[in-house]
Amino acid sequence: MTLRIMPGNFLLNMSALGAMSAALLACVAVAMAADNAPSAGETAARGSDCFSCHSVDQKLVGPAFTAIAQKFAGQAGAASTLEAAIKNGHVGTWGQIPMPAHPQLSDTQLQQIVSWILSLKGQSSAAATAPAQSYTTNVDGKPVTTHFPIFQAGTQKVTPSVFRGYELFDSYCFRCHGADAVGGEYAPNLRASLNNGMTEDQFLSIAMEGRKAQGMPAWAGFFSPQDIDSIYQYTKARAVGALSTGTPPE
Ligand code: HEC
Ligand code: HEC
Repeated sequence: MTLRIMPGNFLLNMSALGAMSAALLACVAVAMAADNAPSAGETAARGSDCFSCHSVDQKLVGPAFTAIAQKFAGQAGAASTLEAAIKNGHVGTWGQIPMPAHPQLSDTQLQQIVSWILSLKGQSSAAATAPAQSYTTNVDGKPVTTHFPIFQAGTQKVTPSVFRGYELFDSYCFRCHGADAVGGEYAPNLRASLNNGMTEDQFLSIAMEGRKAQGMPAWAGFFSPQDIDSIYQYTKARAVGALSTGTPPE
């Protein structure tokens, strides 16, 4: 930005002075923001699908980035090991869920991302997740317990999260899993999956990772963990019988 002041403009009136100082302040603000701007590595990670499965300080489908930084801190060759893991995909270090390959990332992007991840080694991971809360909903006279609220307290209206889950399900999942999660010709009835013991973590992992060979798309990069959690909540509410088919009461 350039501020050009022509000679005639030296007779600035008060409002012009105000505008000038506002412009100067804006320059300062931009400069300050640049100092706190995310690193190239973080920007590249946020532009890819990483944050569908990882968070900086909490385990989601994959380990927290701080946990990876701590595990690999000070190890010789850590950077190239991690770059290869991201590029080619990896399984077995943290559990049985595989990370997909990322052939689209350039070597420079991989190096930037890994140096950002390794720079997080001094940051602590979030304390073990708070003890799960539980909420009781009355379904046909019987109490049903979930770890999230289905209805807004004291009303017949579903929570915004459950409603969003319904909207997302009936926009993206219904094609194969059936509208209103009734089950489809091409894909399992997800209410039955949950009633047969599938956990929320398993639901999130399968949804993000997909099972491409079986025709289940991967949703990592498209949905945030919060989106899939909303879809899980809606499907669970349907599975326990708290919601009937159709638009839930909003
Ligand atoms: C579909 C989910 C998913 C996506 C998307 C994903 N990851 Fe992972 N990531 C995982 C899982 C699961 C593991 C644990 C794999 C293992 O046990 O070896 C993992 C492990 C890692 C590791 C540790 C590898 C090791 O050798 O220990 C790094 C680093 C990593 N991910 C970075 C990334 C980055 C960067 C991106 C984005 C470009 C990304 N991940 C995208 C699920 C994912
Ligand atoms: C193009 C079709 C298709 C779409 C769209 C689709 N799925 Fe699937 N999904 C499948 C198939 C096929 C399977 C069964 C995979 C298998 O045989 O293991 C499946 C399996 C699953 C499972 C595991 C069920 C179990 O019992 O093992 C979950 C969870 C799941 N899908 C979630 C979702 C969610 C959430 C969405 C929407 C965001 C979605 N799916 C959209 C085809 C689809």
